[in-house]
Amino acid sequence: MERLQKIIANCGVCSRRKAENLIIEGKVKVNGVVVKELGTKVGEKDKIEVLGKVLEKQQPIYILLNKPRGVVTTVSDDKNRKTVVDLIDIEERIYPIGRLDYDTTGVLLLTNDGEFSNLMMHPRNEIDKVYVAKLNKKIEANDIKNLKSGVMIDNVKVKADRVKLRKVNSDGTCIVELTIHEGKNHQVKKMFLSLGYLVDKLKRERVAFLTVDNLKSGEYRNLTLKEVHQLYALANKNN
Ligand code: URA
Repeated sequence: MERLQKIIANCGVCSRRKAENLIIEGKVKVNGVVVKELGTKVGEKDKIEVLGKVLEKQQPIYILLNKPRGVVTTVSDDKNRKTVVDLIDIEERIYPIGRLDYDTTGVLLLTNDGEFSNLMMHPRNEIDKVYVAKLNKKIEANDIKNLKSGVMIDNVKVKADRVKLRKVNSDGTCIVELTIHEGKNHQVKKMFLSLGYLVDKLKRERVAFLTVDNLKSGEYRNLTLKEVHQLYALANKNN
């Protein structure tokens, strides 16, 4: 037996929070009866309906993609551009966890497990997102401090958890590693821009312990069961 909202989220219909709202609003039925009680336990054989549709039990899927440049991080694009989902050759409906820009490369997770997706994204769970950025000029030591103490983007203060200058190139550009736990829109580019730096190239090198070291650009693999358990444990540790 499992909690109703967890089962709904696990089926990839929506997040657990959204599932809770749907339950409270009376939009969920169990065996034909509206259930408004959060935490109601349901079993394998119970028939669950959400917004009038019977919930299909589905196998959870967890994919690690090495996102190439020139692909949008969405399920479908109104401008008909290639999406990250187009790169994955499976029948089941999956969606990306968070967003990498059109020109950003590297680690991207896709799933149909709403609960997992939320756990990976919520800043409270402190899942490392490690980016490597090529900047248009050498970063000042003082700006490394500023990134760590917090900079304003879109009227919100955001901090980098770690910042490291990796390399200064002979043409004056530099390579900086920056670790954050959030995923606001264009966050890394905006953080650097707030201090006067342009990001020429951006790669997400690591999410938690996952890298794309053994995947070519555009290649993907399923996460192992062990990796999924480890990621759940990591997120729940700070929860
Ligand atoms: N921050 C950005 O600015 N772009 C990305 O793609 C990811 C994080």
